[in-house]
Amino acid sequence: MSPSRPAPRAVPPAAAPALALLALLALPGGSLAGPGQLNANSGLLPAHKKMQIVGGMAADIKEFGHQVSWLRAGRHMCGGSIITPEYIITAAHCCVELNLTISEVLAGSTIIPSKGRGQVAQIVDVYAHPDFDPMTYTSDIAVLKVYPPFRMDESVRSIPIIDPANSPHTGDPVYVTGWGKLSEFSSTAATILQKVKVQMKDFETCKARYGEIPMVLTDTTFCAAADGKDACQGDSGGPLIYKMGDKDYLLGIVSSGKGCAVKEFPGLYTDLRNERMRSFVSKVTGMKL
Ligand SMILES: *[C@@H]1O[C@H](CO)[C@@H](O)[C@H](O)[C@H]1NC(C)=O
Repeated sequence: MSPSRPAPRAVPPAAAPALALLALLALPGGSLAGPGQLNANSGLLPAHKKMQIVGGMAADIKEFGHQVSWLRAGRHMCGGSIITPEYIITAAHCCVELNLTISEVLAGSTIIPSKGRGQVAQIVDVYAHPDFDPMTYTSDIAVLKVYPPFRMDESVRSIPIIDPANSPHTGDPVYVTGWGKLSEFSSTAATILQKVKVQMKDFETCKARYGEIPMVLTDTTFCAAADGKDACQGDSGGPLIYKMGDKDYLLGIVSSGKGCAVKEFPGLYTDLRNERMRSFVSKVTGMKL
């Protein structure tokens, strides 16, 4: 059996996307072994799967000031998280239909379209993880450099990346945010940021379940879901955070999953505790992780 990739959670794109420029930018100084280059197969994937938070509730951007929207031609495409004033973490699969000319990042607005609320920056560099595999969604991480840098204020702030020593355990609550449409049938309606509480799931159980599809989960992925209401994922590229005391930490990146509200198939998130994910972010941004 050949491994299957996660089923899109929503409508596929109307037409197969033109294989847009995938020659992602090399690091300044060339400290990575070559530029992140997406597999040509990735042109078959939707750049975003219009994943919506299901069973969540409206949230205010002031509570999740690290959350951004990657806009394509003015429309929300993927989520992301501010890790420094000039760097955003998102998912590598969001870079598939990359077109910097029509891309911008919106921070500090609860509502999309923002109609002047918040801050908008251009994307100047895109770094997708060189090991991103569009068949398995392994290493589904990318870093965007924006200009001008975001100004931190009550609605815009950076979020620290989790220290693996302080990570949650199976069953612990974590939070996912993203922009879900208010109306399934309206593509123009304003959308309000949504949040949902889910739980960390046992990785081996989750991996075994996905193995039946079959889909191979690797150590760059973790699983989270909520029993009963079974949250769908938030928008691809967006944050999954762990709250410790009154501090928020970025633990995961919304990546993929089978179906939506499929109880035995939790959502899949890129794991920021993984050493290779951390060293990638360090190399790109210079952050010590
Ligand atoms: C990017 O978008 C611009 C503006 O719509 C368009 O002219 C250009 O052809 C696009 N580039 C690619 C590579 O799709």
